Amino acid sequence: MHAVAHVMEMQGRHAEGIAWVRRHEPDWSTTNNFRFHLYWHRGLYHLERHEFDEVLAIYDNYVASDIASDMYLDVCNAASLLWRLEMHGVDVGDRWKDLTEVSLRHVDDHELVFVSLHYLMALLKGGEPEAAARLAARMQDYSNAATAQGRVSGRVGTGTAAALTALARGDAGAAVDALLPIRYELWCMGGSHAQRDLFEEMLVSAAVRARPRLARALLAERTAAKPRSAWSWRRYAAALRAEGQAAAADAAERRAAELLATA
Ligand SMILES: [Fe+2]
Repeated sequence: MHAVAHVMEMQGRHAEGIAWVRRHEPDWSTTNNFRFHLYWHRGLYHLERHEFDEVLAIYDNYVASDIASDMYLDVCNAASLLWRLEMHGVDVGDRWKDLTEVSLRHVDDHELVFVSLHYLMALLKGGEPEAAARLAARMQDYSNAATAQGRVSGRVGTGTAAALTALARGDAGAAVDALLPIRYELWCMGGSHAQRDLFEEMLVSAAVRARPRLARALLAERTAAKPRSAWSWRRYAAALRAEGQAAAADAAERRAAELLATA
């Protein structure tokens, strides 16, 4: 189920993905908390279709329904879905709050860099800047450790943490500076392509705001890799327009509209 859900996501088969996850729901919906990750996958398809009410319903009814049990994957699903919704301009209300409470228990964790970055997102968004700064500082300390995760921390963890912190204070330029040098290294933190794509989306969004010329290049690459992503075409249009390429921007905007109409 999960592998096919990833294939559908990577190939931009959003409507098929929704149908697939829904059709087999009776087979997996009574299993452990991993089921919430399959709902998260369905949420990604709906996000690409700009069906934000459906994403929020999935978030409330499934993805965040057992946050209090403090399972790391639930926090990863929830934080990444909320961050993505906000990148789409959706108001998520006070949904960061429950996530923040769980994340406060993990400020000093030295387990997986990938997971700690999701706790950091919640702390930054949930109004806990001191705890967020402490987590980022602990990640910096940990990058000196001669362990696999210590090396991951130094290679990509501290840079990604700096980018998240910059984005939370609205400094898109600093986020680009932090993420651009490590974007081809992010794989080493683990997680799936779909999960790590959040960081690519952050880089692209920040570049559209702060470095449109760079954004144009990043989005030329991204729309080639993900030609069925309306989100990406929309941002490509914005970057092209900022660079004075009105006709190309209009074409990118039309492509986004076509994809949304036929998704
Ligand atoms: Fe997955």
